[in-house]
Amino acid sequence: MILFKEAKALNQFLSDQKKNGTTIGFFPTMGALHNGHISLLDQAKKEAQLSICSIFVNPTQFNNPDDFKKYPVTLEKDIDLLVSHGCDVLFLPSVEEIYPPGYKAGVYDLGTLETVLEGHYRPGHFQGVCQVVDRLLEIVNPTFLYLGQKDFQQCQVIQKLLSLTGRNEQVTLRISPTVREKDGLAMSSRNLRLSQSQRALAPALFEELRKSKEALPSKPIEVIKQEAMRSLTEKGFVVDYFEIVDTQTLLPVNDRAKPAVALVAAFLGDIRLIDNLPVN
Ligand code: PAJ
Repeated sequence: MILFKEAKALNQFLSDQKKNGTTIGFFPTMGALHNGHISLLDQAKKEAQLSICSIFVNPTQFNNPDDFKKYPVTLEKDIDLLVSHGCDVLFLPSVEEIYPPGYKAGVYDLGTLETVLEGHYRPGHFQGVCQVVDRLLEIVNPTFLYLGQKDFQQCQVIQKLLSLTGRNEQVTLRISPTVREKDGLAMSSRNLRLSQSQRALAPALFEELRKSKEALPSKPIEVIKQEAMRSLTEKGFVVDYFEIVDTQTLLPVNDRAKPAVALVAAFLGDIRLIDNLPVN
């Protein structure tokens, strides 16, 4: 695996590769890698000739400074994992490489995508995600971009970013299914921060999503939501939201024939977990 720390050197290397006709599969991450991230690498390796991972804990997407400070960093393990799974290139930039002096943050018109669900509870978060992904795409200019469905709203936001910036002409977005632990908990870097007792409670999130899917044909959505929130609260979660929405607009579903997704965000202590499940 080749390691790059400088944007310019990486950009040069990758443009040379592209000139030779090499296809590039890119998956951006914030590190503390797990099998969810590796599933993106596996997909990139299947489809593209060159796989590239970035690890950058992007300060501009953390609306909570404490969450940023406590974000797990496991760089040596990450490198071992990437090497053992055959990743070709790792981009490990400093903040200055991503946001050099004179960098002017764009403002992205994300419409209601930015005001619902995660957008509502994490103001500014998706603007930060767009800034970093836009900049990373400028540097890497990949053929394929791999994202995980675990961050359902982020996928919609980045799809919108690609069309807003015209990058959808050059890059094809691929969305990978959520990888879970045996007990159903969606893999997440933040799981590393859970205590043993919190870890034992955490699978309830997926359990409630599953129950909501089962109940959908026979119960009103409002009742399903209330039952899920009550059950999670009783177990000790502090719930930001449990919603069942249209998969495209992320707005409440009026027409039950349309594809819908259940999404949940809840705290265990100071650790905020999210998960989702398509329900029809
Ligand atoms: P991070 O949370 O590190 O996730 C990097 C990528 O891995 C995202 O596309 C995410 O959806 C995917 N991923 C995480 N857990 C997964 C799981 N259990 N199964 C499948 N895919 C999973 O998302 C970010 O970083 C950042 O916001 C980023 C896009 C890198 C911008 O900073």
